[in-house]
Amino acid sequence: MSETQYDLAVIGAGPGGYVAAIRAAQLGLKVACIEKDATLGGTCLNIGCIPSKALLHTSEQYAEAKQGLEKHGITLGEVALDLDAMMDHKDEVVETLTKGVAHLFKKNKVAHIRGTARLTGRRELMVSRSEGDSETVNASNIVIATGSESMPFPGVAIDEERIVSSTGALDLKAVPERLVVVGAGYIGLELGSVWRRLGSQVTVVELLDTITPGMDREVSQAFQKVLGRQGMVFKLETKVAGIERNGETLRVAIESAGGGNEETLEVDVVLVAIGRRPYVAGLGLDEAGVALDEKGRVMVDARYQTNVEGIYAIGDVIEGPMLAHKAEDEGVAAAEVIAGQKSHVNDDAIPGVVYTEPEVAAVGKTEEQLKVAGIDYRVGKFPYLANARARAMSKLEGFVKILSAAETDRVLGVHIIGHDAGTLIAEAVLAMEFGASAEDIARTCHAHPSLNEAMKEAALALGDGPIHL
Ligand code: FAD
Ligand code: NAI
Repeated sequence: MSETQYDLAVIGAGPGGYVAAIRAAQLGLKVACIEKDATLGGTCLNIGCIPSKALLHTSEQYAEAKQGLEKHGITLGEVALDLDAMMDHKDEVVETLTKGVAHLFKKNKVAHIRGTARLTGRRELMVSRSEGDSETVNASNIVIATGSESMPFPGVAIDEERIVSSTGALDLKAVPERLVVVGAGYIGLELGSVWRRLGSQVTVVELLDTITPGMDREVSQAFQKVLGRQGMVFKLETKVAGIERNGETLRVAIESAGGGNEETLEVDVVLVAIGRRPYVAGLGLDEAGVALDEKGRVMVDARYQTNVEGIYAIGDVIEGPMLAHKAEDEGVAAAEVIAGQKSHVNDDAIPGVVYTEPEVAAVGKTEEQLKVAGIDYRVGKFPYLANARARAMSKLEGFVKILSAAETDRVLGVHIIGHDAGTLIAEAVLAMEFGASAEDIARTCHAHPSLNEAMKEAALALGDGPIHL
């Protein structure tokens, strides 16, 4: 048993925790980061953002090679899938990036402590290791960055082989002939897309009357149409009543959300993706007196401090969208606050991106939110099919939609469905950070030919009209 005194101990080395640790070390604090898993990087690097994006990219290349290149004058012979090689590439990317975090810790002199942390006092943690030994860590400040875990589905046992969460869906050993996805959110649509492209018949069962609830309605309707054209089948306002194992087959009983219309789907794999919940198991929050809200999230103030002085929390374990970049930015802000600086994150300008093809990206308010808030707004839209670069790339699906305040022209929200929307949205985020008007975007010179010109034209649509439509 050993003891060390730190200025800051961060629990969890996901994008929230490792970024907080590095930022605090940059500011001169003596920092330890405690991680229970064997590798650093948390959900995002190990079983989330990174492996899913590797599979999305590779499966998209496969789909293009199979059917997207002829009209560009490229004819290939038979295109074959080597799933093992695809998975090896994904694993290699994950390994490189998680080792990269370990390297950054060394470079910044962040002490990496392996083990599971438990709060044993306001300024004290007990770290237990699987080998049975433990260590006491004393720190003037503690940041809880323990992230989230998949929401369990009552009555359905996840085995990560046939009934899988996102973790199992990132590692299937063969392409399932028939896949049912429960939940039409970020994970269901991204990983459903991966397996659809590789050949699975994909049926998505969604409880609500729309896919990606919370997204601008016009965009989610367009998104559903595009995914439908790619072969995904949607059962909206539908719930799973039960899953039965019948030899090699899974029998998924579904019915209307309100009851009735029972149907049984016979499939090979079920992906359960109905959301994530904060992970605080075994942290000792009760004993430490750290308050949770009604959804089990650690409650924090505007400085990311919990109700206990010196204990902070960031990332998926607190309120807000469960996104890696939100966790990272909160990590920076919390570290800066602890180091005595003034720092915050602008919750109104956090982008969200679904990395399908086309991508869907958004920042700020949706039309539905503006209506509820009684804010007068105007809509400027521009379709990809009128953008020269999109035409050159044969990426004609989608549009950019800008919502601006009717009175001031200030940008209130931007919603994009289209190729590389995740890159395009950065311009909108920056515009909103600077409180830009749509006219500011319209008067900014955009390189030609680029997809970003669709943003400029959507902004022009809020003035005298776009040039190219
Ligand atoms: P986490 O990344 O969950 O890290 C928490 C860490 O804390 C873990 O390593 C855990 O082992 C450790 N820990 C927990 N308890 C203890 C303890 N008591 N002691 C020691 N260590 C502990 N977000 C995006 O922005 N873009 C994407 O493309 C994206 N894709 C995703 C795809 C999938 C399949 C999934 C599941 C998620 C995806 N996300 C994406 C969400 C993103 O992964 C999370 O928002 C992000 O990882 C949250 O970061 P965090 O640091 O709060 O928590
Ligand atoms: P989600 O919240 O995005 O979507 C869950 C979906 O399941 C919703 O549409 C919901 O209505 C539906 N649902 C809930 N209960 C259901 C039930 N019983 N039957 C059928 N449908 C049901 O959650 P998801 O997809 O699990 O992802 C979790 C989080 O991880 C995301 O919200 C996001 O924060 C993060 N993530 C981000 C990604 C990105 O940034 N590209 C990619 C993947 C995940």
